Amino acid sequence: MSEKKRGRFIVFEGIDGAGKTTQIELLEKYLKANGRAVYRTAEPTESVSGGLLRDALSGVSKRTACEMAAMFVFDRIFHNVNPVNGIQKMLDDGYDVICDRYYYSSMAYQGSETDAAWVRDMNLNCPEILHPDLCIFLDLTPAQSMERITRGRATQEIYETEERLTLVRDQFYRVFSELSDRENVQIVNAYRSIEEIHMQIVALVNA
Ligand code: ADP
Ligand code: TYD
Repeated sequence: MSEKKRGRFIVFEGIDGAGKTTQIELLEKYLKANGRAVYRTAEPTESVSGGLLRDALSGVSKRTACEMAAMFVFDRIFHNVNPVNGIQKMLDDGYDVICDRYYYSSMAYQGSETDAAWVRDMNLNCPEILHPDLCIFLDLTPAQSMERITRGRATQEIYETEERLTLVRDQFYRVFSELSDRENVQIVNAYRSIEEIHMQIVALVNA
């Protein structure tokens, strides 16, 4: 019996409202039309730890930055090792895994609030957290992002202010420059038409 070829692990990142959901849907359709099996997933996950994180993100429960960073790591480990549909299992089964946010978000959001090296190392050095094959960073200025967020929604999460998103975006840039020799991160200008952005993403995925 021939072994299944491992799928590709592709992560989408960007500040809130950058267009991740929109572009992930288009990429999923494109890959499926090209005969690939695709598994789409997101962080925080739908598990118990993801629920705790959502309560903290909405402001219902108050958590420190270190608590948040540790909770995201716990959620991410489960996301990787869950034997039913964890990232490792799906990749081994030959699926391309597309994930909406991953450890780069922890490094940017929690890393801009507490010891950034601790957050980075806890994620990068964990033997049960896989490293993506490709990270696509949809880049928008905080003002452009806030315009999109406030247009579509009545409620906001704790990080969704222009001031916070400015710190987070700066931290994303710092992290990508630090990781440039070991992680495949591609920065995409997200202030363009949905179709133009999609075409660039397809080119990056096929590169
Ligand atoms: P995210 O998942 O990163 O929060 P979404 O894909 O949900 O982003 O997009 C946020 C909002 O911006 C939605 O209302 C969406 O329709 C809109 N949007 C997405 N991409 C674009 C684009 N390229 N130009 C204009 N509006 C967009
Ligand atoms: P998400 O639901 O993807 O929001 P959006 O669609 O608006 O981008 O993410 C929820 C929030 O979780 C978002 O503000 C970023 C934050 N987050 C972190 O702070 N650290 C992390 O490690 C992850 C994965 C997300």
